[in-house]
Amino acid sequence: CGIVAYIGPKDATPFLLEGLARLEYRGYDSAGVAVAGRTGGIKLRKVKGRVADLAAAVPARFKGGTGIGHTRWATHGVPSDANAHPHLDNAERIAVVHNGIIENADELRAKLTADGAVFRSETDTEVLSHLIAAHATEGVELEDAVRAALGRVVGTYGIAVLDSEQPDRIVVARNGSPIVLGIGEKEMFAASDVSALVRYTRQVVHLEDGELATVRADGFRTFTADARTTHRQPSTVDWEIDSFDTGGYEHYLLKEIHEQPTSVERTLSGRLDERFSTAHLGGLNLDARELREIRRVKILGCGSAYYAGEMGAQLIEELARVPAHSEPASEFRYRNPVIEADTLYVAVSQSGETYDTLAAVQEIKRKGGRVLGVVNTVGSAIARECDGGIYLHAGPEVSVASTKAFTSTVVAFALLALHFGRIHDLSPADGRRIVSALQALPDQIREVLDQSEAIAELAAEYAGSAGMMFIGRVRGYPVAREGAQKLKEISYVHAEAYPASELKHGPLALISPELPTVALVPDDELLDKNLTTLGEIKARSGRVIAVAHKRPEDRLVDHCVLVPKSEPELDPLLLNIPLQLLAYHAAVALGRDVDKPRNLAKSVTVE
Ligand code: G6P
Repeated sequence: CGIVAYIGPKDATPFLLEGLARLEYRGYDSAGVAVAGRTGGIKLRKVKGRVADLAAAVPARFKGGTGIGHTRWATHGVPSDANAHPHLDNAERIAVVHNGIIENADELRAKLTADGAVFRSETDTEVLSHLIAAHATEGVELEDAVRAALGRVVGTYGIAVLDSEQPDRIVVARNGSPIVLGIGEKEMFAASDVSALVRYTRQVVHLEDGELATVRADGFRTFTADARTTHRQPSTVDWEIDSFDTGGYEHYLLKEIHEQPTSVERTLSGRLDERFSTAHLGGLNLDARELREIRRVKILGCGSAYYAGEMGAQLIEELARVPAHSEPASEFRYRNPVIEADTLYVAVSQSGETYDTLAAVQEIKRKGGRVLGVVNTVGSAIARECDGGIYLHAGPEVSVASTKAFTSTVVAFALLALHFGRIHDLSPADGRRIVSALQALPDQIREVLDQSEAIAELAAEYAGSAGMMFIGRVRGYPVAREGAQKLKEISYVHAEAYPASELKHGPLALISPELPTVALVPDDELLDKNLTTLGEIKARSGRVIAVAHKRPEDRLVDHCVLVPKSEPELDPLLLNIPLQLLAYHAAVALGRDVDKPRNLAKSVTVE
């Protein structure tokens, strides 16, 4: 979900609508805006659908210099006009937009109903508007009413509150869901994500958890739940504004796929040490002696971050010979995990906000464990919660399906594995081998991207399939999993990933001309095994698309995409790129909403 707010001399609505459009990738089943009108009262429009539908529903007379807006991804209640934010109290004085979950909403709703409040939606958020209104009695400042209301709330939130009787301010608060203030010239902005603000200002203040702010046109004041003033220095956003445009590409996804040579360069920049054949990772906050004491590495993430973690775990085991394993953070946090002193925990997140991953980090820290973050968004909640880590520097990723952040995450793990390996037993010669291979990656990625058109033809031919099988062995298996995930996410074609070695233990029964197989066939020590598997598929009339370093015999494949060879440990990075293009072009061929696939959100900041 996304939040925007504006206060200043101009009309709020144009900023709110543009900001919401920029945040739409974070959730998009309904949207709404509320402004404190020049003639008093609150003007409200909210619709089920996209921000474009909202823009069409906002009348020209929707004027007012103080406003808030929201784009929603449903958690409580179906997507509908009534459930869209902002939510008002019954006197239509207070408007609230909210990200997060109010855990004691049912209890509060019962109390407020008993006191006479009439609820008009099924959302947990609506309790906030009634609750704040109940505290906003005669002579009470809005910030005090919000503080008092939040004192009764259990849960996570980022909120923005508008009061028609105090239109000279907006009050925002953060607890587990980000809020950032943007400082303009005699105008102020707030949002859940800087991408909504960068067109208007680069000066921002990230609120801390437990912090609130009163925002006025000429400035802001931050304070805590017990009304202590806090002092926050603005920081400057260094992301390029261009990153938030499609830059001539048809979709953000295609642009982000094509950015990978440069985003990988940025992840590597200044981190490779040719002299000692190692990597410098200044943000780890772990010296060589501390690293030597680590006996195990546990990687946690959700979705593509989890699959990138699987590739990372293999890199660490191979290069450092330290046992490493990746697990979905969403599972880990619920199974009362054993936290070991000599295990290094690594949380992976593009956004740095995924709630399940954040909760896993907090659980580890609470039990005294040490956690590093592999994160793209500087200053995000997960980055701040960790003891150290590696920033990806991949630049903002807008499309819901992760591509460049995925690749940069694996590159970051390669750096970590190299650094860790060189502290253990990785020889200088092997270190040099990896350093050179990493340096060669950007150009090799370019070579794969040059095949986009040929892959588009393949995708058009196979997009109509009822399903697809993705297989790979050992290093190839996480590639298969991520490839299947990408296809599912954006084309809605059913895809299943399997270790190639396991095919004959069950899923071979599915193989037929109707279920094509995408097979990862690197030229490594398992090549012969993989070729045998292809023979087994072809013997069952299965169709095979191989992604390989050299073309297998014609009888084993129907199509082959060739990728340049790296070092075996790094091959998965390059094998994955054609699968991104395959998913993209299949989604386009099927007419899907590529950047905003149905039912998904870019970062899931709820449980
Ligand atoms: C959501 C997205 C996925 C993403 C995952 C983790 O589920 O739909 O594409 O991989 O979150 O996001 P993160 O920002 O933590 O990497």
